[in-house]
Amino acid sequence: MTTFEIIKKTHFAVVTIFFLIYLIKTALLLANKNEELQSFTKKVKILEMLVSFLFLATGVYLMFQLPEIKPLLIIKITIVFLSIPLAVVGFKKANKGLATLAFVLILGAFGIGEMMKNKKAVVTENAVNADGSINAQELYSANCKSCHGDNGKLNMAGAFDLSTTQLGNDSIASIILNGRNTMPKVNGLTQEQAQAIAAYVNTNIKGK
Ligand code: HEC
Repeated sequence: MTTFEIIKKTHFAVVTIFFLIYLIKTALLLANKNEELQSFTKKVKILEMLVSFLFLATGVYLMFQLPEIKPLLIIKITIVFLSIPLAVVGFKKANKGLATLAFVLILGAFGIGEMMKNKKAVVTENAVNADGSINAQELYSANCKSCHGDNGKLNMAGAFDLSTTQLGNDSIASIILNGRNTMPKVNGLTQEQAQAIAAYVNTNIKGK
């Protein structure tokens, strides 16, 4: 596992714990179980501090590893930072409305994170040559370059060096269409387009 992958898995794990803590707290508050809420809050205090710290530290690390900061990511980060003071005030004042709003925001940020796991394919006008054949170089530039670079060696976001790949066209096409570990699947490419990109990788990038 690369450092990037370890950090990414840690981020996902702490975010899940963070989310569960807030789910339980919000449920207790809404059910008027104030004593239980207080004792639960006390019990998870250290865990919550640790999780919050790891949550921010891994999040900042991941942000700096990304090939580009997308608007969706900015929305996600804004939502997270909005929800924190709302949750603090909401639970301190036992304000159900604020606490619920904070929880819904955290849920929304979590949902955006899940949505961002898939990458929508960019198919430009130039993706089809004048003779109707697929312009694989153009598809590669539009969909792969941000992480792998023109020569396959960029290694952004923990991306594999494609100039050293040992995979055949079918395996590469399958990785493009289904993703693998931290590589998102590229949604919306046809089987033919994925095959064309795979062939492009094997003839123009591999071994260069
Ligand atoms: C968001 C960044 C990102 C984008 C965009 C991306 N990749 Fe990847 N790619 C990765 C990462 C990360 C890995 C390593 C995955 C792993 O560890 O299993 C990877 C691995 C691969 C591998 C496996 C290589 C091997 O020999 O094991 C291939 C092939 C590949 N990518 C091709 C492509 C192609 C072609 C595209 C464009 C259609 C593309 N990638 C777009 C991040 C990306």
